[in-house]
Amino acid sequence: MFTVKPNDAVIGATIEGLDASKPIEEAVFARLLVELGRHGVLRFPGQDLSPDQLRAFSERFGDIQSAVSQARHEAPEVGILSNIKENGAYIGAPDAGQDWHTDMSYRDVMGFVNVLFGIKIPRRDGKPLGGTEFSNMHLAYEDLPADIKTKLADATATHDFNKFWEMMRQVKGSVRPALTEEQRRRRPPSVHPVFLTHPITGKKVLYCNPGYAIRINELPEAESDEMLRFLFAHQLQPKYRWTHRWTENDLLVWDNLGTIHQAIADYRPDEIRLMRRCQVMATKVFDPEFLRPVRAIQAAA
Ligand code: SIN
Repeated sequence: MFTVKPNDAVIGATIEGLDASKPIEEAVFARLLVELGRHGVLRFPGQDLSPDQLRAFSERFGDIQSAVSQARHEAPEVGILSNIKENGAYIGAPDAGQDWHTDMSYRDVMGFVNVLFGIKIPRRDGKPLGGTEFSNMHLAYEDLPADIKTKLADATATHDFNKFWEMMRQVKGSVRPALTEEQRRRRPPSVHPVFLTHPITGKKVLYCNPGYAIRINELPEAESDEMLRFLFAHQLQPKYRWTHRWTENDLLVWDNLGTIHQAIADYRPDEIRLMRRCQVMATKVFDPEFLRPVRAIQAAA
């Protein structure tokens, strides 16, 4: 069995003694899910993964979403995030995730985990750049004022893929074209509860994020705008946040239901960052049968 070293922070743990390129027994995988629910982000240092091995590891968590726009794939469902250019064109998404969001809240079947493998990490003066920052949505929910918890207890929010896409297009130097009609048709807005019961922890999380949430459906528009501004400011308070500083061959798995995140764009075009990514949907994690070994571990604890 692997060992778990919790971060000295409100999120995250390092998992040692697990080779993610090899098949993982059901009981070991269930333990990983328990730790993921508890810590939100798991780092597996020193991994050596081909694109196919990354896909196989990621698929244990659920079905992988294919990208709506992707410069190049090395294996089906494995995306490339990079500022490397070949023949004048980026080999992958150069600006993916560079503001606060959670992946796939814009889908009917929301995102469960992202699996990111660090291949080239930019460094300046010996310090790694291009970190990934997280905020803890279990804590953000717990701390909400009681009147907001009551008011939004049964509320839903609409999430729109185009919101984040357009935010990224406004950034100076963006190479993103506007989404085509066809792309927008493939990514229609979706509706989810503002407070979600996390399938692993059984606790409530604040499931709302600045990248995609556009409307609290049960409130008049002006009140919805004000409430969203409040929720976004609340969930981004420094006390909930922690930044992962990358090392080559880090494998990072994070829970998109219990955290929100952003990629930090603090490196120059000549400072190279290269990641492979799988975005895994919540196609399994709400299934009681999938969670049976998790519940057994939790009951024995
Ligand atoms: C993402 O939002 O999935 C990308 C995060 C990163 O590149 O650090």
